[in-house]
Amino acid sequence: MPNLQALATQAKANQLDLLDKIWLKVKPEDKADRIIANIVSLTQNSLNSVASTLVMVGADNKREIYYQLAEGPSAGQLKRLHAGRQSSIAEWVIRNSKPMLVNNPEKNSGFYKLIDEATGFRTKHALAAPLLRGGRVFGVIEALNKSNGAVFSKHDLNTMLDVANIGSTAFDGYRTNNELIHSYKSTVRALVSLADAKETSGGGHSRRLVEYALMGARELGLNKQQQQNIEYAALLHDIGKLSIADAVLNKVEPLSDEEWSMIRKHPIVGYEILRDIPFLREASLLILYHHERYDGSGYPQGLHGDGIPLGARLIAVVDAFDNMTTDHSYREAMPQQKAFAELAGKAGDQFCPLAVKAFNTGYVRTHLTKKKRTIY
Ligand SMILES: [Fe+2]
Repeated sequence: MPNLQALATQAKANQLDLLDKIWLKVKPEDKADRIIANIVSLTQNSLNSVASTLVMVGADNKREIYYQLAEGPSAGQLKRLHAGRQSSIAEWVIRNSKPMLVNNPEKNSGFYKLIDEATGFRTKHALAAPLLRGGRVFGVIEALNKSNGAVFSKHDLNTMLDVANIGSTAFDGYRTNNELIHSYKSTVRALVSLADAKETSGGGHSRRLVEYALMGARELGLNKQQQQNIEYAALLHDIGKLSIADAVLNKVEPLSDEEWSMIRKHPIVGYEILRDIPFLREASLLILYHHERYDGSGYPQGLHGDGIPLGARLIAVVDAFDNMTTDHSYREAMPQQKAFAELAGKAGDQFCPLAVKAFNTGYVRTHLTKKKRTIY
């Protein structure tokens, strides 16, 4: 009889080995640039900053620093500028391996002089965090000036540190197995806290979705890897909403056609953010399809029936259930029994009947056994 534990350990080792190979094959630096590009623009959006930059430390002996990426009014000039090793926030962050929050530029005028003079941009408030590999700083992410003129807060700084954590992970393809798993968890945690910044239903939506989706996934007999992908997708399903302005997300009046088309893009944006992170590749596909409808009337592609991945069909069901059973500014929460009846009424139409049945059965079973699970 085979030693099941040894087989499981071997399978895990193979899986991690494969992930490492994927990182090598896709040239991590190239892919990471794209991941960072997304993350830098999301930072700008979630922190409401006017500009953001990614400064990299050169690999040459001089270890010069340069602007790898810039967004905002002076982006064009910044990209052409070779950041000197003096008079910049990035230089301070690199030298000290610490994040920096500056809300009193007058007292730190030396930090801004050269770059502000070269670009014509006036830095009023700045946040910067180091990207670290093996304890060494290899880059710096910066956010400059809040669009509403406010100062950056401690909370903003924590968000920035989460972004830097993701950025560092994206560049790092050479970790030991345990470090890799730990980095996966912290990457997901950091992404979730970014996504939560846009949640409008009072908190906890994505975490409840994980709980509900896993009830259905276990009932469907999905294996551990499939369950893990569903867990990541449920946690991050609406991360694409970071690209939508708060004014549109929170709007009470009817949305214009243009605003609707922005909302309808969030599954694609979410997919694009996550698809290049190897361990989130499968989850990114479930996110892409979480607003498809079983009868083909959903978006973004209008897929129907079994053409929609099962995990995405399940997330669509539990997303609707949680929306129905929580309070919103425009509607009070519905009793759970009524919500299950709504789901059943739309099974075969909006929702996949298999997914509705699995969630309902899994929910009843979980509440009968009162099993609790710790999630992120
Ligand atoms: Fe969504």
